[in-house]
Order: sequence, then structure tokens, then C-alpha cells
Amino acid sequence: MRATLLRYSPGLLLLTLVLSGCGVEYPQSSISPHSDFAHIIHGLYTTIFWWTMLILAVVWVLLTWVIIKYRAKPDDPKPKQIRGHLGLEIGWTVGPAIIVVLIAIPTIQAVFATQQPVSEDAMLVEVTGERFWWEFHYPEYGITTANELWLEKDRPVNLRLASSDVIHSFWVPKLGGKRDLNPTVAVREGEEPSYNWLFFTPEVAGHFYGQCAEFCGESHAFMLMRVNVAEPDDFAAWTESWQASPGALAEVQDPDEEGRDAGLAIQAAQDGEIDETPLVAEGREAFLNQATCGACHAIEGTHAQGDRGPNLTLFGTRRTLAAGIMENNQENLVEWIRDPWRFKPAAAMPGTDYDMEGTAGFWPATALSDEQLEAVAAYLLSLK
Ligand code: CUA
Repeated sequence: MRATLLRYSPGLLLLTLVLSGCGVEYPQSSISPHSDFAHIIHGLYTTIFWWTMLILAVVWVLLTWVIIKYRAKPDDPKPKQIRGHLGLEIGWTVGPAIIVVLIAIPTIQAVFATQQPVSEDAMLVEVTGERFWWEFHYPEYGITTANELWLEKDRPVNLRLASSDVIHSFWVPKLGGKRDLNPTVAVREGEEPSYNWLFFTPEVAGHFYGQCAEFCGESHAFMLMRVNVAEPDDFAAWTESWQASPGALAEVQDPDEEGRDAGLAIQAAQDGEIDETPLVAEGREAFLNQATCGACHAIEGTHAQGDRGPNLTLFGTRRTLAAGIMENNQENLVEWIRDPWRFKPAAAMPGTDYDMEGTAGFWPATALSDEQLEAVAAYLLSLK
């Protein structure tokens, strides 16, 4: 075994070096900055990296020199014994102290730079950590969405961070962070919750990935998020599509309006009178009127206005499901609604045949049939 390892060790060493060279473009790489904040952190990292490399070089050169020059030979007399050396001791105290100061200066500058007052045109997003997902509320646009944060390229954003339960931590390595979301539940009346703030300007359009960085329970590791940094036009299109969201179909969603009940909507879909499949119409009926989905979830333009779970408006435009843990498609969505705890133990969502007994909060099993599951998933994916 040992001989084999030794024989392959040059290859293993090379492999390690090659793999470590791939680090830059991993989805959650912190050495691939894409915002001003991330550049500050990366600059600090680079400074400290080169200081440590310098120290490493000095130590290795000295060590090699001492090993060669002072190597003991047979019959050498015992070397002269010395005790204490004032010059050396001052040297190895003052030298490291100077290095620490040189590292402290850019560190303190970075602390102040990332805590500066927010610019006037920054977009406010209120971020709430939930069990185990993220809510993003945009007061300026009246948008509340979940798990996929939309930002505008080159526009400063100011994230107001809070948690509805335990401490979570917001971390999107390519954009900067990480910063804790403190619970607001225990705040006394009249007191301002202890919000944390995170302020940065995304500099590159694209998709970035983040992760809760503070242990928050059984499914902490599955509390992911996706950030879509969009060009200004695309961002405007996104906010506009929100304003025009499925409210257009409200007349067939709400049995109180225009006297049409959902049964008629399914009939209308079957007859081709409205532009959707009967499966989608059945899903809407199940979601809004047969099951209790709307008690926790909201869909703009419908009477589902629950605020305990993720807002599902424009759900069909999301690329990922269940806080970034899987691709958002019919198959995954059916399995997720059937059995959330299979993917995310202790998530605050009941399955088709189990309730949330034993977790904070309680909601009974949804009791959706297989057909209803397919229909609800089709309906949710049609929301775009
Ligand atoms: Cu939320 Cu860990």
C-alpha cells in the first residue's frame, strides 16, 4: 500500500495542483469577485496571501541554508552553547508586529468601506430567513418573492437582513457577504429590530449561487438561493411581468367574481374557451379551492394570500425549487409537494399524508391525490 502510494505520489501531487487551479470558477467561489464588496474582500485575501507567501519563502530559504551549512559531521565537536540573543529577540518580535500592522491597515479600511452609508439610489430589498428558505421583499415594486433574488446590474442594492425564527446567514460568495440574519421575534414593542444590512453593487450580469452560512436546523445544508443579476432592461421586464401577473385569470380563479366558479373554468379550458390546459385549470381549482395551499402561500391576482410560506407568484419563471436544491420541473415539483421532508427534513410544509407535528407551527397533511398533485404542479409551472 505504502509503496503504491509512493510510486503514484508525483502524479497525486500534480493532480492536487491541477485541481486547485480549477477553484476560481466554481459556483460558490469566493475568489471570483463580481461586485464591489466582493472585490474588497478579494483584495484583502490577496494581500494576506502574498504576505504569507513572503514569510513562507523567507522561512524555507533560511531553513534550507541552516540545514546545509550546519549539518553535523562525524567527529564534530559539540557546538558552542548560547543563551539568549537580544538582537534576534527584538527582530522576531518587531518583524511580525510590522506585518500585523500592514495587514491591519487594509482590513480596517475594508471594514469601513463595507459599512459606509448607503447611496441614495440603492434598491432596498428586505430579506427574511425562514425555515429553510429565503423571502425577498421589494417595497419599491410591491414584490414579494422567494429563493431567487433579482438584482439589477450596476445598481447598488441594500439588503435589510432579518429572520423569522433562528439566526441564518446570507452568503453569496461571488457577490460578497456573509452576514447574519438576526431573529426579530423576541423584539419588544416599540423597539427597532436589530437588522443587519448588506450593501453592494453587482457588476456582472449572470446567475450566482448562495447558501445559508449559519447552522439553523435539520435542513440548514439545503437552504440555498439563486441570485439573478439582470441587465436594466431585463430587470424592468421582470418587475413589469410581476405587475401583470396571473391576475388576468382572476375572473376564473375567484368564484365570487362574475359568477364563474372553478368548475366552470375547468369546463371552459376543456372547451378551449380559455387558453390553458384542463390540467392547469384542475390544478388551480385544487390549489385555490379544494386544498389549503392558500393558507400559507400567496399568488398575486388570486384569493390565495397566505404569508407563512413562499409567495408563489410567477413560480413558473423560477429555475430552481425548494430553495435552490433541485431543478424546477413537473416531475420534481410533484415529488416535492408529495413529500417535502424527503428532500428537506423538518421543512415547514406538510406532505400529502403527514402533518407538521413536532415542528414549530402545525399544519395538517394536504391529502392531495396523485391526480391533484400532477394538476397543482402543472398549475404552478404555468404561472409565468
Ligand atoms: Cu438557515 Cu442555515
